[in-house]
Amino acid sequence: MEVIICPNAQRVGEVAAAKAARIAAPIGPKVVLGVATGSSPVQTFAELARLVASGDLDLSEASAFALDEYVGIPEGHPESYHEIIRQTVTEPMGLDPARVHVPDGFATDLQAACRAYEDAIKAVGGVDIQFLGIGSNGHIGFNEPTSSLSSRTRIKTLAAKTLEDNARFFDSIDDVPRHCLTQGLGTIMDARNVILVATGTNKAHAIAQVIEGPITAMYPGSVLQLHPHATIIVDSDAAAELTLIDYYKATYANLPAWQRLDV
Ligand code: F6R
Repeated sequence: MEVIICPNAQRVGEVAAAKAARIAAPIGPKVVLGVATGSSPVQTFAELARLVASGDLDLSEASAFALDEYVGIPEGHPESYHEIIRQTVTEPMGLDPARVHVPDGFATDLQAACRAYEDAIKAVGGVDIQFLGIGSNGHIGFNEPTSSLSSRTRIKTLAAKTLEDNARFFDSIDDVPRHCLTQGLGTIMDARNVILVATGTNKAHAIAQVIEGPITAMYPGSVLQLHPHATIIVDSDAAAELTLIDYYKATYANLPAWQRLDV
């Protein structure tokens, strides 16, 4: 696991995008992205869009798969993840909408929609770069505490903490859907590279548990300790409860030339 501590959220986005661009370069324009919603990846996606606009990143034939979607809110709803991915990923990065996938939380057969989603990821050969945020309770995707570490895309019930955290996007907490479809932890672990970004003090405890705690379903993100290519990029607030801060900073400052990011 690579841990990079940045001074602020803007820098987190720049470093995450530079890391993704470095991974994407040898893969070429058909790179397959896994994308998250929420506040965390906003700067990263804006920076990726900038790299596309400047010609430094070619996503002309890229596919994208969202991590999750609420159950029961239609595609055009402003808080549906279909809509958020359209606004933060598809349009700014110039992706072909036909290659951008979001689980169908409005399907009449939700289980079939989950199976179809897994099949669609397999059909393109799997995800090359999975972007993740993290919930204050340690969830990745909407894999809430006690999720199976080998789970696949399925229906989940949102934890009380997640309803509370996501109430800011709705008129009231009662409007936050209780259920979602989410890629499983096993699905996320199949991605060839993972980049998790986190900012702010409300993520500090989860980040410390995920990076330095035991691997446990109580902090689902901790499964990333088993991933061979996981990078966690945090600002100093989200890093506040880590015990090995000096080690992570020294490692990044002394990367060999071939590993250094051009940011
Ligand atoms: C979003 C997702 C969630 C969020 C997490 C953090 O697609 O799967 O895991 O990444 O809830 O949300 P923010 O970034 O809004 O704090």
